[in-house]
Amino acid sequence: SIVNPLLRTGYHFQPPKNWINDPNAPMYYKGWYHFFYQYNPKGAVWGNIVWAHSVSRDLINWVALEPALRPSIPGDRYGCWSGSATVLPDGGGPVIMYTGVDHPDINYQVQNVAYPKNVSDPLLREWVKPSHNPVIVPEGGINATQFRDPTTAWRGPGPEQWRLLVGSAAGSSPRGVAYVYRSRDFRRWRRVRRPLHSAPTGMWECPDFYPVSKGGAPRAGLETSVPPGPRVKHVLKNSLDLRRYDYYTVGTYHPRAERYVPDDPAGDEHRLRYDYGNFYASKTFYDPAKRRRILWGWANESDTAADDVAKGWAGIQAIPRTVWLDPSGKQLLQWPIEEVEALRAKSVTLKNRVIKAGHHVEVTGIQTAQADVEVSFEVSPSALAGAETLDPALAYDAERLCGVKRADVRGGVGPFGLWVLASANRKERTAVFFRVFKPAAGDKPVVLMCTDPTKSSQNPNLYRPTFAGFVDTDISNGKISLRSLIDRSVVESFGAGGKTCILSRVYPSLAIGKDARLYVFNNGRAHVKVSRLTAWEMKKPVMNGA
Ligand code: FRU
Repeated sequence: SIVNPLLRTGYHFQPPKNWINDPNAPMYYKGWYHFFYQYNPKGAVWGNIVWAHSVSRDLINWVALEPALRPSIPGDRYGCWSGSATVLPDGGGPVIMYTGVDHPDINYQVQNVAYPKNVSDPLLREWVKPSHNPVIVPEGGINATQFRDPTTAWRGPGPEQWRLLVGSAAGSSPRGVAYVYRSRDFRRWRRVRRPLHSAPTGMWECPDFYPVSKGGAPRAGLETSVPPGPRVKHVLKNSLDLRRYDYYTVGTYHPRAERYVPDDPAGDEHRLRYDYGNFYASKTFYDPAKRRRILWGWANESDTAADDVAKGWAGIQAIPRTVWLDPSGKQLLQWPIEEVEALRAKSVTLKNRVIKAGHHVEVTGIQTAQADVEVSFEVSPSALAGAETLDPALAYDAERLCGVKRADVRGGVGPFGLWVLASANRKERTAVFFRVFKPAAGDKPVVLMCTDPTKSSQNPNLYRPTFAGFVDTDISNGKISLRSLIDRSVVESFGAGGKTCILSRVYPSLAIGKDARLYVFNNGRAHVKVSRLTAWEMKKPVMNGA
């Protein structure tokens, strides 16, 4: 098959070709952002995994270096899998801990350590694996085929000051588990008998664990070793192998007991996700240059493997997001890093435009295949009485609710939102929208955010799931905002200032390049006002020489 090269993303992180998956060891070092990722140097399918390495001054323009880690020792002969960096205090330089596969057929997993050959090289071009590898092996009943993805280490009380987590599974159901290991020197690691936390979810891949500031300045992040306290909560994130999404809880870390307790006991039913779409194996790092915590996540393709081979590439990284704790303390907020705004070029703005029930308006004057759109919507508070009632059977299941109440199903208040990557005849369009439901007695209205790609392409051989999450916002004043980063075969959307995020991969067959259009639509019975919409064309950054 022939895939249109204009579907390749323009400003998302990608190497020139081949397969990529998890982000690894993101860090800031001597004025440079470092980014490593799982990479197949030999093709557009998963396999032959090495750590590719790129560097950047601004997280937007990237220069590719030689792979940092390739199979070279018994402990990683069959693959250098995911891991993390810890930048040691007092100029000690960075350390990488990563999973190595040391047995071909059963994927037996161990944890290795690697150091820069030269800590004064800001580009950290060469990495050395000491001969004492592997430094952590699966012992004491741990399943050796489900034991991977060490986190960034943090410091705590006691002589074995360094701690990190390794993701695993235990029991027959099985439970997802995050084991804690402690060390003085990154060489001898000892497991704490009880895991930091576990839940009946299946294997936990790519755990991440970090402090967030409660009541701190908006968007401020904390260094990974900041201890818990009255103004410091912790976040534990896990990637669910079985469900393929990243969920997290906010809770309390008890360093002496080496235990973590989610604030909401129902949290482990994976109510909260970083992203309700295609976003997996993510990892954060603390950026000391701007005192923020940044989230990287991998977005897989949702075309066919044959298409990937034909394209010669598969996988992108989502635009890095700043993450911080919502003032409610109940969830995180996420927003594309401010640096992405440097790519904004020609723009167009609509103001106070009413979209009548059942109508749509095209946003003209710029090209929108590669664009950034920010919209503020307003419905009159009195119109909220006309919202649909929520079927109690679907009240907790956003995904099923959106599968039933798709963009083309007429509503009361909403569905309203954007049609992105749409063709001129609107036969192709991806809908990103909100839908409001009547509150249960005394409660606030329920807001659902969805991405509906079912009409995104004429190509029949695509995976086109609707994605959805609830938005924990008070819409009683009638206002809600939406931002979408559109980039040829991806749309990344942020509802209500980053409360709910959805990334979706789409592969239009008509709405490609100059033929991609942008609309605001309202398929409800209440009028919706666009108080303001600005859309920018996005420039192409320097991207790994592609
Ligand atoms: C997650 C993952 C990790 C593993 C890596 C291998 O996508 O399966 O658990 O380390 O990918 O590429």
